[in-house]
Amino acid sequence: MLGLESYVSTAQSVKVPAANTDPVRYASKLVELKNLTLMRTVRKVKIVYSTTGFSINRRRLMRDLNAIGRIGIGDRGSVTRLVFSIKELRSRQLLIHLMRQAGLKIHIDGIGNIFGRLDGSDPKAPALLAGSHLDTVIHGGKYDGPVGVIGALEAIRTISENKISIRSPLEVVCFVGEESSRFGFSTLGSSLVAGEVRAKDLANAVDAQGTKLADVLSSLGIAPNKLRGLARDPKTLKAYLELHIEQGPILEAIGKRIGLVTTIAAPSRFRIIFKGQADHSGTTPMGMRKDALVAAAQLIEYVEKVSRQHSSMAKGRVVGTVGAMNIEPGVINAVPGKTELLVDIRSTTAQSKDRVARRVKREAQSIARRRALGVEVLTIREEDPVPLDRRLLRRTKAICEQKQIAYEIMPSGAGHDAMQMAKITPAAMIFIPSRRGISHNPQEWTSPDDIGLGTQLLMETMIQVANENF
Ligand code: GLV
Ligand code: MN
Ligand code: MN
Repeated sequence: MLGLESYVSTAQSVKVPAANTDPVRYASKLVELKNLTLMRTVRKVKIVYSTTGFSINRRRLMRDLNAIGRIGIGDRGSVTRLVFSIKELRSRQLLIHLMRQAGLKIHIDGIGNIFGRLDGSDPKAPALLAGSHLDTVIHGGKYDGPVGVIGALEAIRTISENKISIRSPLEVVCFVGEESSRFGFSTLGSSLVAGEVRAKDLANAVDAQGTKLADVLSSLGIAPNKLRGLARDPKTLKAYLELHIEQGPILEAIGKRIGLVTTIAAPSRFRIIFKGQADHSGTTPMGMRKDALVAAAQLIEYVEKVSRQHSSMAKGRVVGTVGAMNIEPGVINAVPGKTELLVDIRSTTAQSKDRVARRVKREAQSIARRRALGVEVLTIREEDPVPLDRRLLRRTKAICEQKQIAYEIMPSGAGHDAMQMAKITPAAMIFIPSRRGISHNPQEWTSPDDIGLGTQLLMETMIQVANENF
C-alpha cells in the first residue's frame, strides 16, 4: 500500500497530516452539513434593469477567500484539504454559512456537491452555474479552486444586493473532489453531475491507506449501480462558468491579466507495479538481484524522455509525470522487491496523449522482460481533451474588449470541473495570472487586483448570459 508521504515525494521526508479515511465519520458529517441548510433564509430580490456600473466587493471577496485559506493551513502557508477529510468538510461548512448569509437557496446532493441558488425572474428558465472546488492537493496553495467558488459567490451576492435583473436563476456550485491527490481520480463531483462515472472507472481508485473510493461512495448511499443517480438533467442547465487561477506562467510572461480558455487537456492516468524480489542488500550478489526500484528508475526516465519528444505544439504539447512512488520494503538494507508508480500523461490532443501513454506502457513491459520482473499496469482514468463553448468564449472576449482588458486565448494544461460540465452544458473558463506560474505549491499566489478583475468579468458574463436566450 502506498504511504501518504510517498504521494508527496519519496525523496523528501515531509510530514503529511493524515486524511480522514473513515467513510462512516464522513457520512455523519455530511448529514450535519445537510441539516445546516434547513436553517437557511431566503431573501426576495427586486428587479432593476441596469447591468452596468456595479462592482463586486473586493474586500469581502478577499476576506472570504482568506477565511477558506486558513482551513487546513500548515507549514509555510501550505494548505491541505484532501477530499473527504474533516478540513475539506469544514471549508464546505463555511461556504454553506456564507451562502446562507447571502440568502441563497442551498441544495447538497448525495456526494456533497453544494449548490447555492438565486432565483431569476423566469421560474422555468434553466440555471446558469458558476463555481469550482474547495478540496486541495497535499501542501497546495489557497487559490486553486476557492477563487472560482468564492468568486462566483461574490458575483451572485453583488447581483442580489444591487437587485440586478436576471432572467435565469444563478447557482454557485462547489464540486467535491476535483483534485486527484487522494484517490488518483479527479473531478469526482462534477463527473457524477455530468453522469460520467461508471462502476468500472472506480476499480483502481484507492488512497494511500488502502481506502477504496467505491467504498466511500457506497457509505454515502451511492452504490455502483446508482452512480448515474447524481446526474443532473441537462435541461435544467443553461451554462457553466469557472473562474480559476492559470496555474502556469503564460499570462504573467506576456503581461496579460485574463486568459480565455479554448480547450482543457485531458489525462491518461495509470499505476505501474514492478514485482521483483526483496533480498538482503549485503549478501545478494549484483548479478542475482531482482531490483524493482532500478526498473522504476528506468521507466521514470523514459516517461520524461518520450514526453519531451512530444512536447512541441505540433506534437500535441504532451506532458508526462511520475508524481508518486512507493517502494517495498523501503529500507536501507534490502533490495527493493516491489515498486508502484503513479503516472500522469496529458495533452490537448487525444492521439498524442494516447501515443505517449501506449509507449510508456510498452516500455514498462520491456523493462520488466529485460530484468525478469513481473509488471502490472492498472488504468486509473482515461479522458479525452475537452473543447469549451465558442459562443461563451466570444462573450467573455467581447466584454474584455469593451473594458479594454488585455486577454489571451489559450488552452488549459490543468484539469478542471469545467471539463465534465462541458459534456452536459455550454461551458467557459476565465483564467487569472499565477505568480511565476507556481501552483500545487504553498507559494501559489495571485494578486487581489487580478482576483477582483476576474470576479468582475465573471459577474458581467453571468448577467449577460442569464438574460439572454442562449
Ligand atoms: C488539477 O489541478 C489537475 O491535476 O489538473
Ligand atoms: Mn489543482
Ligand atoms: Mn483547480
